[in-house]
Amino acid sequence: MKRVLVATGGGDCPGLNAVIRAIVKRASKEKDWEVVGSIEAFNGILREPTEIMILDEKTVSGIHYRGGTILGTTNKGGPFAWPVKDKDGNWTEVDRSDEMIRKLQYLGVDAVINIGGDGSQRISQALFEKGCNIIGVPKTIDNDLSATDSTFGFQTAIQIATEAVDKLVTTAASHNRILILEVMGRYAGWIALNAAVAGGAEICLIPEIPYDIDKVMKKIDSRFTKGRGFVNIVISEGARAIGANFTIQEEEGNELGYHNLRLGGAANKLIHELKSAGCPYDMRETVLGHLQRGGVPIAYDRVLATQFGVKAFELVLEGKSGVMVSYRHPYISSVPLTDAIARYNYVDPDTALIKTARGVGISFGD
Ligand code: F6P
Repeated sequence: MKRVLVATGGGDCPGLNAVIRAIVKRASKEKDWEVVGSIEAFNGILREPTEIMILDEKTVSGIHYRGGTILGTTNKGGPFAWPVKDKDGNWTEVDRSDEMIRKLQYLGVDAVINIGGDGSQRISQALFEKGCNIIGVPKTIDNDLSATDSTFGFQTAIQIATEAVDKLVTTAASHNRILILEVMGRYAGWIALNAAVAGGAEICLIPEIPYDIDKVMKKIDSRFTKGRGFVNIVISEGARAIGANFTIQEEEGNELGYHNLRLGGAANKLIHELKSAGCPYDMRETVLGHLQRGGVPIAYDRVLATQFGVKAFELVLEGKSGVMVSYRHPYISSVPLTDAIARYNYVDPDTALIKTARGVGISFGD
């Protein structure tokens, strides 16, 4: 039997289980292939004892609509930056990639399918350069990967954010308030932009268009007459005023030898900025957080995830390596991993959806 190993890395995302299921179902049509999964990204391979699970049709039955990942995941460490304590008790990183490749050989793994975002695909490329047969599958709610039209999980996140805007609109109107919804997306404003258009917000603040607080205030004032009116604002966690830095909740993990800026607090900061600018209206913030990543993937994401899973296994069958599955409408194809990690997919301020948003009166505070 030949073996393909599946891993899910980085933040979880609705649709991961649908990809795993599709890989297993497609593989089961071949007589000579079996699928195994590594627990918590590649940690399962590197741990002693090894933590891998056999993925057969029974294991994946009915998981396509379950959120999260049955394999578990992590956005810390990895084979090239494994956290260890040195003799003085300080955390440092070691490169265990060669050891991992040897372990994969020992386990009889012929190919690896690595489902993950930008960080995970960088690991895929580095493993490929070390001779590992590897296929990447793009995953992120942020939609910030450039070599694919879309990633699964993104539309589910938009749906959840839009439902939140819908709820906030009614309470904003009842109380003559400004209600501010902070959404995820890291340095890309796609979730905020889509939710603002779909939910009918008046103001949308995204990382790609730093805002001028006076312009935000002007738009707010235009919505109030004699103290009556309401405003709904959707703000990306990565949005910031012109000249300001990102709002950082925590600089994570320095002592573990990895570095990650955890964004958060942009809505709260905006309230303070608006108060300083003399905003007289009642303001409240809602931070949607991980609700955007959890739970059932919507149908679109299940379909895309299933397409990605089938394609990933077919690339393995074709003997391809060092490539990532990609959706380029209407095709599911593949691109070199080097292209996939070359640049991010940020919102271009001239993109059609920004123009649409401006066309319906949404202000970006610029
Ligand atoms: O990349 C997905 C994402 O949810 C971002 O939108 C967000 O900034 C980040 O992950 C949060 O990461 P964590 O779950 O580690 O707090």
